[in-house]
Amino acid sequence: MRVVISIGGSVLAPDLDAGRVDGHAAAVERIVGEGCEVGAVVGGGGVARDYIGIARDLGANEVQLDHIGIDVTRINARLLIAALDGLAAPSPPHDYEGAGEALRRGDVPVMGGAMPGQTTDAVAAALAEYVDADLLVYATSVDGVFSADPDGDPTAEQYDRLTGTELVDLVAPMSRGAGASAPVDLLAAKLIERSGMRTIVLDGTDPDRIAEAVLHGDHTGTDIVPLGADGDPERWDR
Ligand code: UTP
Repeated sequence: MRVVISIGGSVLAPDLDAGRVDGHAAAVERIVGEGCEVGAVVGGGGVARDYIGIARDLGANEVQLDHIGIDVTRINARLLIAALDGLAAPSPPHDYEGAGEALRRGDVPVMGGAMPGQTTDAVAAALAEYVDADLLVYATSVDGVFSADPDGDPTAEQYDRLTGTELVDLVAPMSRGAGASAPVDLLAAKLIERSGMRTIVLDGTDPDRIAEAVLHGDHTGTDIVPLGADGDPERWDR
Protein backbone atom coordinates (compact mmCIF):
# COMPACT_ATOMS: atom_id res chain seq x y z
CA MET A 1 0.00 0.00 0.00
CA ARG A 2 1.21 3.49 -0.85
CA VAL A 3 0.22 6.22 1.59
CA VAL A 4 0.72 9.96 1.89
CA ILE A 5 0.70 11.33 5.43
CA SER A 6 0.17 15.02 6.05
CA ILE A 7 1.39 16.10 9.47
CA GLY A 8 0.22 19.57 10.49
CA GLY A 9 2.84 21.93 11.85
CA SER A 10 0.79 22.32 15.03
CA VAL A 11 0.97 18.52 15.44
CA LEU A 12 4.67 18.01 14.66
CA ALA A 13 6.14 21.20 16.05
CA PRO A 14 3.81 23.26 18.25
CA ASP A 15 7.07 23.91 20.09
CA LEU A 16 10.51 22.51 19.45
CA ASP A 17 10.56 19.08 21.09
CA ALA A 18 12.88 16.39 19.76
CA GLY A 19 10.82 13.67 21.47
CA ARG A 20 7.67 14.66 19.61
CA VAL A 21 9.37 14.67 16.21
CA ASP A 22 11.01 11.34 17.07
CA GLY A 23 7.57 9.91 17.91
CA HIS A 24 6.21 10.84 14.50
CA ALA A 25 9.33 9.49 12.81
CA ALA A 26 8.84 6.21 14.70
CA ALA A 27 5.26 5.99 13.39
CA VAL A 28 6.50 6.49 9.82
CA GLU A 29 9.25 3.90 10.40
CA ARG A 30 6.66 1.41 11.70
CA ILE A 31 4.46 1.94 8.65
CA VAL A 32 7.42 1.51 6.29
CA GLY A 33 8.53 -1.53 8.29
CA GLU A 34 5.12 -3.10 7.59
CA GLY A 35 5.82 -2.84 3.87
CA CYS A 36 4.07 0.42 2.95
CA GLU A 37 5.53 3.12 0.73
CA VAL A 38 5.21 6.46 2.50
CA GLY A 39 5.32 10.08 1.38
CA ALA A 40 5.05 12.75 4.08
CA VAL A 41 4.07 16.41 3.98
CA VAL A 42 4.75 18.70 6.93
CA GLY A 43 3.03 22.00 7.81
CA GLY A 44 4.35 25.20 9.32
CA GLY A 45 2.17 25.59 12.43
CA GLY A 46 2.41 28.51 14.83
CA VAL A 47 5.99 29.33 13.85
CA ALA A 48 4.90 29.96 10.25
CA ARG A 49 2.05 32.14 11.49
CA ASP A 50 4.46 34.15 13.71
CA TYR A 51 6.88 34.77 10.86
CA ILE A 52 4.07 35.65 8.47
CA GLY A 53 2.57 38.06 11.02
CA ILE A 54 5.84 39.92 11.49
CA ALA A 55 6.59 40.04 7.76
CA ARG A 56 3.06 41.37 7.13
CA ASP A 57 3.73 44.18 9.65
CA LEU A 58 6.91 44.89 7.70
CA GLY A 59 4.90 45.34 4.50
CA ALA A 60 5.55 42.03 2.70
CA ASN A 61 2.97 41.15 0.06
CA GLU A 62 0.93 37.93 0.13
CA VAL A 63 3.22 35.99 -2.20
CA GLN A 64 6.24 37.00 -0.13
CA LEU A 65 4.37 35.88 2.99
CA ASP A 66 3.58 32.54 1.35
CA HIS A 67 7.26 32.06 0.54
CA ILE A 68 8.11 32.65 4.19
CA GLY A 69 5.45 30.10 5.18
CA ILE A 70 6.86 27.61 2.67
CA ASP A 71 10.36 28.07 4.08
CA VAL A 72 9.08 27.29 7.60
CA THR A 73 7.27 24.16 6.39
CA ARG A 74 10.53 23.00 4.80
CA ILE A 75 12.45 23.60 8.02
CA ASN A 76 9.89 21.46 9.85
CA ALA A 77 10.23 18.86 7.09
CA ARG A 78 13.97 18.84 7.72
CA LEU A 79 13.34 18.04 11.38
CA LEU A 80 11.35 14.96 10.41
CA ILE A 81 14.02 14.04 7.85
CA ALA A 82 16.68 14.26 10.58
CA ALA A 83 14.61 12.01 12.85
CA LEU A 84 14.01 9.51 10.05
CA ASP A 85 17.75 9.01 9.72
CA GLY A 86 18.63 7.32 6.42
CA LEU A 87 15.03 6.38 5.61
CA ALA A 88 14.10 9.76 4.14
CA ALA A 89 15.29 11.59 1.04
CA PRO A 90 17.98 14.00 2.32
CA SER A 91 16.09 17.24 1.61
CA PRO A 92 12.43 18.21 1.14
CA PRO A 93 11.49 17.82 -2.55
CA HIS A 94 10.22 21.12 -3.94
CA ASP A 95 7.82 19.51 -6.39
CA TYR A 96 5.81 16.34 -6.93
CA GLU A 97 8.17 14.92 -9.53
CA GLY A 98 11.05 15.11 -7.06
CA ALA A 99 8.93 13.44 -4.40
CA GLY A 100 7.83 10.73 -6.85
CA GLU A 101 11.44 10.02 -7.80
CA ALA A 102 12.42 9.68 -4.14
CA LEU A 103 9.56 7.24 -3.63
CA ARG A 104 10.66 5.18 -6.61
CA ARG A 105 14.20 5.03 -5.17
CA GLY A 106 12.71 3.56 -1.99
CA ASP A 107 13.16 6.73 0.10
CA VAL A 108 10.50 8.53 2.11
CA PRO A 109 10.04 11.97 0.53
CA VAL A 110 9.21 14.59 3.16
CA MET A 111 7.78 17.70 1.50
CA GLY A 112 6.85 21.05 2.96
CA GLY A 113 5.05 23.61 0.84
CA ALA A 114 5.23 23.67 -2.94
CA MET A 115 3.97 27.02 -4.27
CA PRO A 116 2.32 30.25 -3.07
CA GLY A 117 -1.45 30.55 -2.76
CA GLN A 118 -2.20 27.29 -0.97
CA THR A 119 -1.31 25.31 2.14
CA THR A 120 0.33 21.96 2.75
CA ASP A 121 -3.18 20.39 2.84
CA ALA A 122 -3.28 20.85 -0.92
CA VAL A 123 0.33 19.68 -1.32
CA ALA A 124 -0.55 16.40 0.40
CA ALA A 125 -3.65 15.88 -1.77
CA ALA A 126 -1.70 16.65 -4.96
CA LEU A 127 1.19 14.39 -3.94
CA ALA A 128 -1.26 11.57 -3.18
CA GLU A 129 -2.84 12.03 -6.60
CA TYR A 130 0.56 12.31 -8.34
CA VAL A 131 2.00 9.11 -6.83
CA ASP A 132 -1.32 7.30 -7.17
CA ALA A 133 -1.53 6.64 -3.44
CA ASP A 134 -4.01 4.17 -1.98
CA LEU A 135 -4.57 6.33 1.07
CA LEU A 136 -4.13 9.93 2.21
CA VAL A 137 -4.05 10.68 5.95
CA TYR A 138 -4.33 14.14 7.48
CA ALA A 139 -2.87 14.14 10.98
CA THR A 140 -4.36 17.31 12.47
CA SER A 141 -5.02 18.56 15.98
CA VAL A 142 -8.77 17.89 15.60
CA ASP A 143 -10.21 14.39 15.37
CA GLY A 144 -11.87 14.56 11.98
CA VAL A 145 -14.26 16.77 10.06
CA PHE A 146 -16.91 18.58 12.08
CA SER A 147 -20.04 20.54 11.15
CA ALA A 148 -18.48 23.62 12.80
CA ASP A 149 -15.28 24.49 14.65
CA PRO A 150 -15.33 22.07 17.63
CA ASP A 151 -13.06 24.42 19.60
CA GLY A 152 -15.50 27.31 19.43
CA ASP A 153 -18.90 25.67 18.93
CA PRO A 154 -20.17 23.08 21.45
CA THR A 155 -22.90 21.96 19.01
CA ALA A 156 -20.30 20.91 16.39
CA GLU A 157 -20.85 17.31 15.31
CA GLN A 158 -18.24 14.98 13.89
CA TYR A 159 -18.82 13.20 10.58
CA ASP A 160 -17.85 9.51 10.51
CA ARG A 161 -17.84 9.24 6.76
CA LEU A 162 -18.14 11.68 3.86
CA THR A 163 -17.78 11.57 0.10
CA GLY A 164 -15.30 13.93 -1.57
CA THR A 165 -18.21 16.00 -2.89
CA GLU A 166 -19.72 16.29 0.59
CA LEU A 167 -16.30 17.39 1.87
CA VAL A 168 -16.09 20.14 -0.76
CA ASP A 169 -19.62 21.32 0.07
CA LEU A 170 -18.76 21.47 3.77
CA VAL A 171 -15.38 23.12 3.44
CA ALA A 172 -16.37 25.76 0.85
CA PRO A 173 -18.38 27.99 3.24
CA MET A 174 -15.89 27.37 6.08
CA SER A 175 -13.02 28.55 3.90
CA ARG A 176 -14.42 32.01 3.37
CA GLY A 177 -13.28 34.85 5.58
CA ALA A 178 -10.52 35.39 8.07
CA GLY A 179 -9.72 32.78 10.67
CA ALA A 180 -11.10 30.00 8.50
CA SER A 181 -11.37 26.79 10.50
CA ALA A 182 -11.79 24.18 7.79
CA PRO A 183 -10.09 20.86 8.66
CA VAL A 184 -8.52 20.78 5.19
CA ASP A 185 -8.48 23.68 2.78
CA LEU A 186 -10.81 23.98 -0.20
CA LEU A 187 -8.19 23.19 -2.84
CA ALA A 188 -7.27 20.00 -0.97
CA ALA A 189 -10.94 19.03 -0.78
CA LYS A 190 -11.36 19.58 -4.52
CA LEU A 191 -8.28 17.48 -5.30
CA ILE A 192 -9.59 14.69 -3.05
CA GLU A 193 -12.95 14.88 -4.82
CA ARG A 194 -11.54 14.78 -8.33
CA SER A 195 -9.04 11.99 -7.65
CA GLY A 196 -11.49 9.90 -5.60
CA MET A 197 -8.65 9.55 -3.07
CA ARG A 198 -9.51 7.53 0.00
CA THR A 199 -8.70 9.90 2.85
CA ILE A 200 -8.73 9.91 6.64
CA VAL A 201 -8.76 13.06 8.78
CA LEU A 202 -7.78 12.32 12.36
CA ASP A 203 -6.19 13.66 15.52
CA GLY A 204 -2.52 12.91 14.92
CA THR A 205 -1.07 14.38 18.09
CA ASP A 206 -0.45 10.80 19.23
CA PRO A 207 1.61 9.31 16.37
CA ASP A 208 0.44 5.77 17.20
CA ARG A 209 -3.00 6.81 15.99
CA ILE A 210 -1.57 7.57 12.57
CA ALA A 211 0.08 4.15 12.35
CA GLU A 212 -3.09 2.34 13.51
CA ALA A 213 -5.19 4.19 10.95
CA VAL A 214 -2.79 3.41 8.11
CA LEU A 215 -2.09 -0.20 8.98
CA HIS A 216 -5.51 -1.33 10.22
CA GLY A 217 -8.01 1.39 9.35
CA ASP A 218 -8.58 1.87 13.11
CA HIS A 219 -9.30 5.48 14.03
CA THR A 220 -11.97 7.72 15.50
CA GLY A 221 -11.72 10.50 12.90
CA THR A 222 -13.49 10.95 9.56
CA ASP A 223 -13.26 8.68 6.51
CA ILE A 224 -13.60 10.33 3.13
CA VAL A 225 -14.50 7.67 0.62
CA PRO A 226 -15.16 7.85 -3.10
CA LEU A 227 -18.84 7.66 -4.03
CA GLY A 228 -19.83 4.01 -4.46
CA ALA A 229 -16.72 2.66 -2.70
CA ASP A 230 -17.68 -0.63 -1.17
CA GLY A 231 -14.72 -1.62 0.95
CA ASP A 232 -11.48 -0.85 2.63
CA PRO A 233 -8.02 -0.89 1.05
CA GLU A 234 -6.94 -4.43 0.31
CA ARG A 235 -4.32 -4.39 3.00
CA TRP A 236 -6.86 -4.03 5.84
CA ASP A 237 -8.60 -7.25 4.75
CA ARG A 238 -5.53 -9.36 5.40
P1 UTP B 1 0.58 25.34 6.37
O1 UTP B 1 0.21 24.27 5.45
O2 UTP B 1 1.19 24.95 7.67
O3 UTP B 1 -0.64 26.33 6.60
O4 UTP B 1 1.56 26.34 5.64
P2 UTP B 1 -1.85 26.34 7.60
O5 UTP B 1 -2.94 25.47 7.06
O6 UTP B 1 -2.15 27.78 7.82
O7 UTP B 1 -1.26 25.71 8.93
P3 UTP B 1 -2.00 24.79 10.00
O8 UTP B 1 -2.56 23.60 9.25
O9 UTP B 1 -3.07 25.65 10.58
O10 UTP B 1 -0.89 24.41 10.95
C1 UTP B 1 1.97 27.56 6.25
C2 UTP B 1 1.89 28.71 5.29
O11 UTP B 1 2.83 28.50 4.23
C3 UTP B 1 2.33 28.97 3.00
C4 UTP B 1 0.96 29.57 3.30
O12 UTP B 1 1.14 30.96 3.55
C5 UTP B 1 0.54 28.84 4.58
O13 UTP B 1 -0.38 29.58 5.35
N1 UTP B 1 2.26 27.86 2.01
C6 UTP B 1 2.34 26.56 2.41
C7 UTP B 1 2.16 28.16 0.66
O14 UTP B 1 2.08 29.32 0.26
N2 UTP B 1 2.16 27.13 -0.24
C8 UTP B 1 2.27 25.84 0.12
O15 UTP B 1 2.29 24.95 -0.77
C9 UTP B 1 2.34 25.54 1.48
